[in-house]
Amino acid sequence: MKINKLLLPLVALAAAVPVFPASAARINNGVTIRATDGTAVNAHGGGVLYEDGYYYWFGENRKRMASNGVSVYRSADLVTWENLGLALTPSGERKNTLQDVAPGRTIERPKVVYNAATGKYVMWAHWEDGNDYTKARVMVATADRIAGPYTLVRTMRPNGQESRDQTVFLDLDGNAYHFRSSEDNMTLQCSKLSPDFLTPLDDFIRAIPGKQYEAPAIMRINETYIGFFSGCTGWRPNPGHMCMTRNITTDSWNDLGNPCIDAKAETTYDSQPTFALKIEGYDYAYMYMGDRWNSSNVETSTFVWLPVCLRTGTPFLRWYSSWDTSLFETMDAIRRAARIEDNGSYVLLSRVADRMVSANGNAICTYEDDDSRNLSFVFEPAGDEAEYRLRNEADGRYLQGAGTVLSLADASDADTQVWRFDRQSDNFYIISNKSTGRVLSVKDGLMSSGAPIELIGSTSASKARFGVYFDKRKHDYEEDNPFGKPYAGESGIGSVRPAADDVIVSCNGGHISVTLDRRADDAATKISVYDLSGRCVVSFEARSRDGYIDVELPPVADGVYILAVDSYVRTTAKIAVRR
Ligand code: GAL
Repeated sequence: MKINKLLLPLVALAAAVPVFPASAARINNGVTIRATDGTAVNAHGGGVLYEDGYYYWFGENRKRMASNGVSVYRSADLVTWENLGLALTPSGERKNTLQDVAPGRTIERPKVVYNAATGKYVMWAHWEDGNDYTKARVMVATADRIAGPYTLVRTMRPNGQESRDQTVFLDLDGNAYHFRSSEDNMTLQCSKLSPDFLTPLDDFIRAIPGKQYEAPAIMRINETYIGFFSGCTGWRPNPGHMCMTRNITTDSWNDLGNPCIDAKAETTYDSQPTFALKIEGYDYAYMYMGDRWNSSNVETSTFVWLPVCLRTGTPFLRWYSSWDTSLFETMDAIRRAARIEDNGSYVLLSRVADRMVSANGNAICTYEDDDSRNLSFVFEPAGDEAEYRLRNEADGRYLQGAGTVLSLADASDADTQVWRFDRQSDNFYIISNKSTGRVLSVKDGLMSSGAPIELIGSTSASKARFGVYFDKRKHDYEEDNPFGKPYAGESGIGSVRPAADDVIVSCNGGHISVTLDRRADDAATKISVYDLSGRCVVSFEARSRDGYIDVELPPVADGVYILAVDSYVRTTAKIAVRR
């Protein structure tokens, strides 16, 4: 009998539904994972599909280096994995038509999605003939049950294009997209799939042209799509890349550089992305999944799974050698406040690396989530609008600024204890001391935990931007969501326009200053200038330092123009040039 997918929740209610444990066992990175049968999990370049209380993990089964079909495991808690065997078993003869999954063929980076219209589970994987990587094809296989057996539908070059590292992304509205490294791995392409998910539609997008990214892992939160990628260095790890867009059907992906912020960021913590998994039971909990390759015996490669910190509006990956999913309870609970309420109680979050303003002895610095160090302030109104005294809830002392130094001090009426909160267009604040006008800033924009916070002369760089956040388990203040409206199913993909709130542009004569996310530093940002008839008069690339671009506009005639900055989103500003 064919089970109607819509009825599955009811069927599942009748069966014993595994409950996600509140205090889960630990995820250990870079070590062999043993399945419940005692064997080492052999599922590389994989992806996960969640169904009825279980995460199904599909990945390359390897015998040392050799490809051996696709494994599937399942788990209710991401820690205890049951070996369900091969979902796709190599079988049949090698054919000249290349329409086979015969033993000896290479199958990599398998991903499975469920098609609600056809009731089929659909697997896409990278397919090579077993000699080298020149065939650059995909394999599409289907099954009636999640764990298989999967049978080959076809191998192909999607849209006639080369396809090596690849993934399939199932969008919230039920559309699916194929992402692949193509054009000699130089360009990341994307095709929307046909309604049955078996073929790409005719038009495809050169989503990330010319950057040589591979190992795509795509996720979506509300109206924002996030992609993790690696560079192209084979089995050797390299610095990761993270791109974002509000519109998956155009080539408007913007590059925010490496999502990693701790030691070994330059090798993505010795990993290469393979999947971004939504963790059930939370609003905004996602897990980065990567492979730590053993290039001399791929079978024994291990895994790097990390929580994705999302609350600043751009993802960060911190390093944890071992963690459990209860970590999401705090991470998911710290939300950005829509506004500051008098006598509200808030923490301050640095935009630089998503770390909280904290005390370490007498020093004020950034720090991980840690109640014993993070400072929770009551915002006491201090006369003028947007001016507050910040009372540390733990000891009743007040944040004080003297020269360049921040401290906690006993209450006084002095302006050294009064802070002005200037909200910026990215919804972060520049916080200045009323007595000196100096602003809070993370020293040198350091990303490390424990980075000193100092008071410096005015700047709009991201090191001087702090978010006002609250713990939603304790307060029910209105929340400001950095990822756009929660998906409600009403808006068609591609119809959503980016909100112009992610980069900050100012223009002074012919000089432009743009504040971006600091991790955009290594990536080129496109700046275009349009005249009022919409004609592009000049377009150039600039690189930011410390989250900041400062450039002279190439010569254009005096007049009024529209400046467009393509970073995480396209932001436009009207500028008047008079030289
Ligand atoms: C990497 C790719 C892996 C595998 C490897 C082979 O670039 O991400 O999936 O194909 O090359 O060298």
